[in-house]
Amino acid sequence: MAPVPSLAATVHQRLADALSAALPEAGSSDPLLRRSDRADFQANGMLALAKRLKGNPRELAGRVVEALPDDELIREIEVSGPGFLNITVTDRAILSTLAARAADERLGVPRAERPGTTVIDYSQPNVAKEMHVGHLRSTVIGDALVRLLEFRGETVVRRHHIGDWGTQFGMLIQYLTEHPHELDHTSEAGGAGESGEAAMTRLGRLYRASRTLFDSDEGFKERARARVVQLQAGDEETLAHWHRIVDESMIYFRAVYDRLDVEVKDADVVGESAYNDTLEETCRLLEESGVAVRSEGALCVFFDDVKGQDGNPVPLIVRKADGGFGYAATDLSAIRDRVGRLHADTLLYVVDARQALHFRMVFETARRAGWLTDGETCRHLPFGTVLGKDGKPFKTREGESVRLIDLLDEAVDRASQVVQEKDKDQLLSAAEVAGRAGQVGIGAVKYADLSTSMSRDYVFDLDRMVSLNGDTSVYIQYAHVRIQSIVRRAGDRQPTAHPELSLAPAERALALHLDEFAETVQAVAETYEPHRLAGYLYGLATAFTPFYDQCPVLKAETPELMENRLFLCELTARTLRQGMALLGIRMPERL
Ligand code: ARG
Repeated sequence: MAPVPSLAATVHQRLADALSAALPEAGSSDPLLRRSDRADFQANGMLALAKRLKGNPRELAGRVVEALPDDELIREIEVSGPGFLNITVTDRAILSTLAARAADERLGVPRAERPGTTVIDYSQPNVAKEMHVGHLRSTVIGDALVRLLEFRGETVVRRHHIGDWGTQFGMLIQYLTEHPHELDHTSEAGGAGESGEAAMTRLGRLYRASRTLFDSDEGFKERARARVVQLQAGDEETLAHWHRIVDESMIYFRAVYDRLDVEVKDADVVGESAYNDTLEETCRLLEESGVAVRSEGALCVFFDDVKGQDGNPVPLIVRKADGGFGYAATDLSAIRDRVGRLHADTLLYVVDARQALHFRMVFETARRAGWLTDGETCRHLPFGTVLGKDGKPFKTREGESVRLIDLLDEAVDRASQVVQEKDKDQLLSAAEVAGRAGQVGIGAVKYADLSTSMSRDYVFDLDRMVSLNGDTSVYIQYAHVRIQSIVRRAGDRQPTAHPELSLAPAERALALHLDEFAETVQAVAETYEPHRLAGYLYGLATAFTPFYDQCPVLKAETPELMENRLFLCELTARTLRQGMALLGIRMPERL
C-alpha cells in the first residue's frame, strides 16, 4: 500500500506549489510549515524568501494565497504579522486523511526509501559481574532503536559486545581449576528452572574467593597470570572452565532480560572474546600502514587534538607493552567484522557517554586504516548517567552501584500497589495483579528512561515513574485502557469516519495530533531520538483527556457522531499501542 501522506504533508505540498506558481523566479523553496496555536498551521517561509529577493513579505504572502486552488483542503488562510500565513484546514480534510491512515496497517508510517544494514552494539554487560543501571539504559534504548529501525524496513544486526575476555578471567579460571566444585549447582535444581539469582550468587562467591587469593598468595597470582596466556592461546581445559563461567553469567543475564521483557538472542551475543583470533592481525595492519606506532613498548595511535592535562598527547593503546590487547583492539577488530563481513553501512554504539573519547579515537583510527570509508556512518549514541534522588550517580547506601534486578523488582512491587488501588472491589486474582504489575512496573522504568533525551542524566525516582499523573507510561497506559473500555462497550457498533461531520475543538485537537504520528516515527528513526516518540505519545494521551471529558462517545446525539467518535477512539488506541510497542512497552487491556 502506498504511504498515506499526512495532512501536514499535503498542506505543505500545496503551499510549496502555490509559492512556485506565485514566484516562478524563486525556484522551489520551503514554505516552512509548522503546527500552530493560532490556526492549525503557520507558514513562515515567505519571510526568508522575501528577504532573499528583496521583496515585501506580506505582499508575497498575499500572492501565495491567491495562487492557492480553491478546494476542500483549506478552510481559511490569512496573512498575518510581518508576513506569516495562518492556515486552518477543513474538518473534512482532517477526517478523510485519518480514515486513509486507519486503513493502513502501518498507520501511514512509510518504509525507509533506501533501507540499509545497521549493526547496533547495545546491552553489553560484563561476565561474572552484576548488571547495573548503566546496562539498563543501553538495553532499553538499544531495544527501542532496533524496533524503530526494523519497522522502517532497515536490516538490523544486533551485537551484544559483552565483556567476556581479559586478565580477570585468568584469576577466575585458575581458581576454578584448583576448586573444581566451586560453581556446582548444589542447593538448586539446575537446568532450565535454574534461577538467575542463584547463578549470580555463585559467580559472586567465585569472584570474591579468587580475588582474595589473588591478593594474598603470590604463587596463585603467578598461576593466574599464566592462565590468561593459556586462555588466549586456546588451551582446551582452560576454555572449558571459561565456558562454564560465561554460561553461568548468561543464566543470570537471561533472568534480568526476562524481567525487563527484552528479547536477546544467543546468536547476537558476540562478546569481546569472539574477536580474539583477529587481534594480532588488526595490530599488524595498523602497524604496517603506519596508523599505529610503538611508543614505550606499546602499540599506539596518536591524535593531534587529544591531550592530557599536562599537554602531552594521550594515545589510543591498541596493544600494551606487556603484549596484552586492550579494549580498543577488540573494538577495531569488531569494526572490521561488522563492515567487512556483515556489510554494515551504519554502525551504532549505545554506550555510556563516559566512553565518548574512546569511540572517537576508535572510529578515527578505523578511518585512517581504511576500515571505515565514506560509505559507512559510525555513531556513538551516548547516554547520560542514572542519578539517585540526591542528584549523584545512583548508588546504594553502602556506596555500591545498584543492582538492576533489585530496581526492577521494586518497580514491579510499586506497580502492584497501583494496580491493587485501582482494583477497589478486589476482582482481580493474584495472577492477574502480578501480570498487570509487570507490564506497568517495567513499562514505567523503560518509559522514564526513554522519555528523557538520551544524552541527559536523569533521576531514578520510582514514585514519579509509576504515578498516574504526569509524563509517565502509566498515564499513557491508563488513557489506552479507558479507550479500550469504550470500544468494548460499543459492542457491534462500528468505528467509522464521517467526513461530512464538523468537529468539536477537542476532536480537532486530538485528530490533528493523530495526524503527526507517521512523521514523528520517521524522524525518530532517522535521528535515533526515542524521547521524541515518548513525547508524542504523551501529547496524544493528553489530547485524549479533554476529548474524553467533553465528547460523549456512546451517548453521542446521533449514530453518525457516535461512529465518528468511536473512530477517533480506535485510531488513538492503535496509535498509542503501535507507538509504545516501538518503545518496547506493553499496554495492558485493563487496569
Ligand atoms: N561492556 C562494556 C561496559 O559494561 C560496554 C561495551 C560497549 N561496546 C563496545 N563495543 N565497546 O561498560
